[in-house]
Amino acid sequence: MKSDLSGFYELSIEQRLALLKQQCNLTTEEVEVLHQTGCLHPHTADMMIENVVGTVELPVGVATNFKINGKDVLVPMAIEEPSVVAAASHAAKLARPQGFASSADEPLMIGQIQLMGASHDAKSLIMSARSQLTEIANSKDSTLIKLGGGLRDIEVHEYPSSRGKITVVHLIVNVQDAMGANAVNTMCESVAPFLEELTGARSVLKIISNLAVYRLARAKVTWPKSIGEDVIEGILDAYAFAAADKYRCATHNKGIMNGIDAVMIATGNDFRAAEAGAHAFAARNNNYVPLTHYEKDAHGNLVGTIEMPIAAGIVGGATKTNPVARVAIKIMGAHKASDLAQVAVCVGLANNFAAMRAMVKEGIQAGHMRLHASNIAHSAGATHIEIPAVVRRMLVEKKITMAYASEVLAEMRG
Ligand code: MEV
Repeated sequence: MKSDLSGFYELSIEQRLALLKQQCNLTTEEVEVLHQTGCLHPHTADMMIENVVGTVELPVGVATNFKINGKDVLVPMAIEEPSVVAAASHAAKLARPQGFASSADEPLMIGQIQLMGASHDAKSLIMSARSQLTEIANSKDSTLIKLGGGLRDIEVHEYPSSRGKITVVHLIVNVQDAMGANAVNTMCESVAPFLEELTGARSVLKIISNLAVYRLARAKVTWPKSIGEDVIEGILDAYAFAAADKYRCATHNKGIMNGIDAVMIATGNDFRAAEAGAHAFAARNNNYVPLTHYEKDAHGNLVGTIEMPIAAGIVGGATKTNPVARVAIKIMGAHKASDLAQVAVCVGLANNFAAMRAMVKEGIQAGHMRLHASNIAHSAGATHIEIPAVVRRMLVEKKITMAYASEVLAEMRG
């Protein structure tokens, strides 16, 4: 499979799908799932959430040029914002031929049980009851245990609070290829009565933590000096700004999440969990910092790295019920949740680099303009056939407004 599909963006949707079918061994039905749009049947949607009255769609684009651990990868991304897919593809192209090196931790999620009024020796009682706790927790999900997952460890934390001492039990659970919320929440609820009896406490919350510090994914990439020494210096300045200032850092990290959320959404994953985990991780030392790091190597190349939690699955939830998510996971070639996590961080790093490169070169707006102009032409009532001509005129005249699009359209229609 090749991901450096040069000129992919110039093809029609049908030609892109034909190429994707061949590259990723998609079946005719899988191609149809992508092509027909609106593929989430109302009955399927009705099974996913409550009070369903319809669906909302986003474009799914495919980022090209990614090479991760020596293997070419095509990355489906679902997002409403212009330029994100192109930016990721371009950053990945500049990183070839080496591409990205990535890794991911074991899929360990943390479940929390809040205990109020626990005995003074609660911590040692809980730690000594580790085997009983494991037995109770693991009795709830035989499939997970068969697959090699289950409770791996226990931690106990104690905090003073306005409501008295809070004892928090952490269940550290290997969730295999799932995001893990269902398995972890069920385990937390199942051990709570035992913990109450053991410690004389009242249990309150039993819920997964989105700060998945044991489920990190990381990536590293070197962009060659040939991207421009002035560009590299500019990116290092921009990075220093994000590291020094939380107002800039929020936007820096948002640029990373542009790519990561787009991958999460395309694969049916919980992007709010990804967001919560990312920003809490960025602030874990009580100082909100960038999720990426940049430096120059001895040869003047730019080395970018990223490390952050990615709690995403390839089984369960919408990854199974949403047919587009299933095809997206197949296109990406993710056989394990950790494959998906590694692709996600590579895309986040690529989008972060691309945003900084654009800002230190021509400014962010230049890249947005073509697609922005297409959106405006569409809103002004231009048809699929008329849009390219209206866009050309708007770009040439540098007047990207609804009023001008309407004027050009009226003129074209005589
Ligand atoms: C826009 O969606 C993302 C950027 O603001 C990210 C950044 O400023 O680094 C361009």
